[in-house]
Parts: sequence; structure tokens; C-alpha cells
Amino acid sequence: MALADKDRIFTNLYGFQPWNLAAARARGDWDNTKALLERGRDAIIQEMKDSGLRGRGGAGFPTGMKWSFMPKESRDGRPSFLVINADESEPGSCKDREIIRHDPHKLVEGALVAGFAMGARAAYIYIRGEYIREAETLFAAVREAYDAGLIGRNASGSGYDFDVFVHRGAGAYICGEETAMIESIEGKKGQPRLKPPFPAGAGLYGCPTTVNNVESIAVAPTILRRGAAWFSSFGRDNNKGTKLFQISGHVDKPCVVEEEMSIPFRELIERHCGGIRGGWDNLLAVIPGGSSVPLVPSEQIMDAPMDFDGLRALGSGLGTAAVIVMDKSTDIVRAISRLSYFYKHESCGQCTPCREGTGWMWRVMERLRTGDASVEEIDMLFNVTKQVEGHTICALGDAAAWPIQGLIRHFRPEIERRIAERGAVREAAE
Ligand SMILES: Cc1cc2nc3c(=O)[nH]c(=O)nc-3n(C[C@H](O)[C@H](O)[C@H](O)COP(=O)(O)O)c2cc1C
Ligand code: SF4
Repeated sequence: MALADKDRIFTNLYGFQPWNLAAARARGDWDNTKALLERGRDAIIQEMKDSGLRGRGGAGFPTGMKWSFMPKESRDGRPSFLVINADESEPGSCKDREIIRHDPHKLVEGALVAGFAMGARAAYIYIRGEYIREAETLFAAVREAYDAGLIGRNASGSGYDFDVFVHRGAGAYICGEETAMIESIEGKKGQPRLKPPFPAGAGLYGCPTTVNNVESIAVAPTILRRGAAWFSSFGRDNNKGTKLFQISGHVDKPCVVEEEMSIPFRELIERHCGGIRGGWDNLLAVIPGGSSVPLVPSEQIMDAPMDFDGLRALGSGLGTAAVIVMDKSTDIVRAISRLSYFYKHESCGQCTPCREGTGWMWRVMERLRTGDASVEEIDMLFNVTKQVEGHTICALGDAAAWPIQGLIRHFRPEIERRIAERGAVREAAE
């Protein structure tokens, strides 16, 4: 069953109505926010836990549990902070952008509710540098909320003081990693920190900090208004709620759509994207969660539930639910090699396996693309991805390794075919 309109959280996702405060209020945002806050911090966190919401930034960590890691009160005078991750630089991902440009008040209200629940003094929304128009909208929405007394001193009449700052990034993918983001807000080079300490202990300016994705925060007020039972009525166990899917590539109508978590792939595409270009027989493979997750070949993805566990069972992941569809016209080795180049370009260079490995893997991928390699190098490349994976400060190393592993796992015959073909051409020339 597809998600009914009455159950959509993002009712202005396509911008048919204005984004501004008056229109947002008419859609139900900022409706007696004071009463939400009056439920108290523990009750809000419990409701978020009960809703089953898992973080929408990629890793799927339970949101309510994350909030509960923040100190109940400051023992040493340090304030706490909420950082909202609007960096959205994962190739294929384009959902936070739609929230910010068409429904920004959901995010600003969510910032207050989430910040209050974890006792934060302020929220910093870190927005991707390239999102220029979106940042303008966000600045204006925050201004509107201040002017209406919804945030700032005595936010929404709750007696709680809460500021929201918008911080623009400068175009580095790595600043989406939560500790690199914290460094960047502090004015330093955006490079991930070693953990521990975790941000909940020592994050922004050395203070307890929670980093959450835009979508995770923007859905919070609606979850509190409609209740955990409503939100968790969608999706399968451990994979609850509604979700923004972003479908790009070789479908008839690429789109961003809010759907029920766990919707089967085929239904998602048929219902919202007009089918696969050239028909289902023309489907080659899908990258279901943004560029860092391994691809899934067509026969395995067709009936797969689009959720965290369903895609993990296929050796891939839901990630940000950025679904990249590739039909049989795709040069699959070239596509993955292009992603390898992206990760090489975005490596911050701190750790050797990532700094050296991403470049090395890309160069081998380029030779596999043209067939200028030996068959043994396929295994060598696979082994190197295994040496990078899990041996770096942040998950960019894994993100660089996984797409290559997926390619070798599922398209080894194609790689070998190219090597044989190139070898035959070379032999003929000699
Ligand atoms: C290299 C890298 C880039 C990331 N980029 C983003 C991003 O653009 N947006 C995002 O929300 N999370 C991103 N993340 C994940 C964040 O580190 C963090 O887990 C997330 O913001 C937590 O939010 P959530 O719990 O609401 O999912 C990235 C992680 C890595 C390793
Ligand atoms: S894994 Fe790569 S991006 Fe992450 S800290 Fe190490 S060098 Fe930087």
C-alpha cells in the first residue's frame, strides 16, 4: 500500500505553496509548539524512541537514543549544542534541499523541539556551500521565526531560550562527516576527529553536541503531534516511518517522493517514476542509497524492501535513500570508476589508507575500465579495498571501498571480458 496524502509529513515538498511562515502555519507547523515543549524533555525523547525513527543521514542510528546520550544537565557550566547536517553532498542525494527550500519551517521548528529535548543552548544548521538559494530561504525562515518569537529568548512562550544559527559550508564533501562539520563550524579545516571522545561528550567548542540530519530533525514535530504509534505504523520492524526517496538515473520520471519505508523497489519505481527507461528487462543495476553503498544487480533489487535491513541483506544499504537507477546502456565499470575519482578527490588526506588508497584504487579502476590490466589485479584491488575498509578515521574510506567491492562481486565477468578483449587487440597488434 502506498503512502496516503493524509500521512505525508512534507506536504509542500514540491513547492506548490509558499515556504513562508504564514503558509507553514496553515499547513500545521508551529501549531502550539509551547504545548509540545511542555511535555518535558524525557517525554519527548521517549516518544522519539517509541516512533522507531532511525537517522536519515545514512547510518540509520536510532534518533531518540542518540538524543538520550546528551547530559541531562551541565555539571561544569558547559552548554550543549545541536548541529543539523544540511551538507548533503553524497552523490545522488537531494532530499534535504527540497525540505529547506519548500518546507524550511519544519526544520526550524524541529531544531527547537530537538534542541529543547536535549537541553541544547542553540542549533547550528550547516548548509552545503553550493545550496545558495536554499541558504537564502533558510536564513529568511530563521529570521521569520525570530521575529515571531518562535525561537530566541522565551522561544514560543516556553520560557526556554534557544538560538538557531545558519552556517554555510564551502563545498567539501568531507564536511558532511559529523566531526569534520564540527571542526568546520569552529573555523578550522574540515577534517574528521578521532573518536572517542564522541560529540555527545566533547563536540562543538568542546561541549556536548548531537549531530543530526535535516530529515531526522524536520520530522520530529509531526511525530510528536501525531504520535509514535502513527509513525511506527509505516514500514517493517526496525525500519519504521515515512521516508524521502530520491530516484535518479534511467527511470522515466526521476523524482523526490515521501513514501512508506520498506516499499518494494518495483512498486516505488512504478508508482512514482513511470517505470524503468526501456522497460524492466532493460534494468542493469541500482545503487540504492547514494554513491557510498554497493550496487545491487537488477534481479536482486526488483522485489527488495527499500529499508535498512532489506538492503543490508543484499550486501548494500539504504544510506540516504538516494536511488540511482542504471539501465543496460550504462558502462558500469566507468560509472564506478567515476565514483572512485570522487572519493579520491574528497579524501581529506589525514589517514594513509584513505589518502593513498583512494588514488590507487581509482587508477586501477581506470585500467579495469579500459581493460589495460591483468585478471590477477581484480583480486588485488578487492584485497586493497578490504585493507582500506575499517582502517581509517572516518567512514569515507569505507565509502570509497564499497562501490568497488559491489562491482567486483556482481560484475566480475564484465571486467574480465574487457581485459580479454584488450589483450586480444594488443596481441593482434604485436
Ligand atoms: C564522508 C561522510 C559524509 C557525510 N555526509 C553527510 C551529509 O551530507 N549529510 C548527513 O546528514 N550526514 C552525512 N554523513 C553522516 C554524518 O556523519 C552523521 O552520521 C549524520 O549527520 C547523523 O545524522 P542522523 O543520525 O540524523 O542520521 C556523512 C558521513 C561521512 C563519513
Ligand atoms: S578516512 Fe579519508 S576522509 Fe576520513 S579522515 Fe581519513 S583521510 Fe580523511
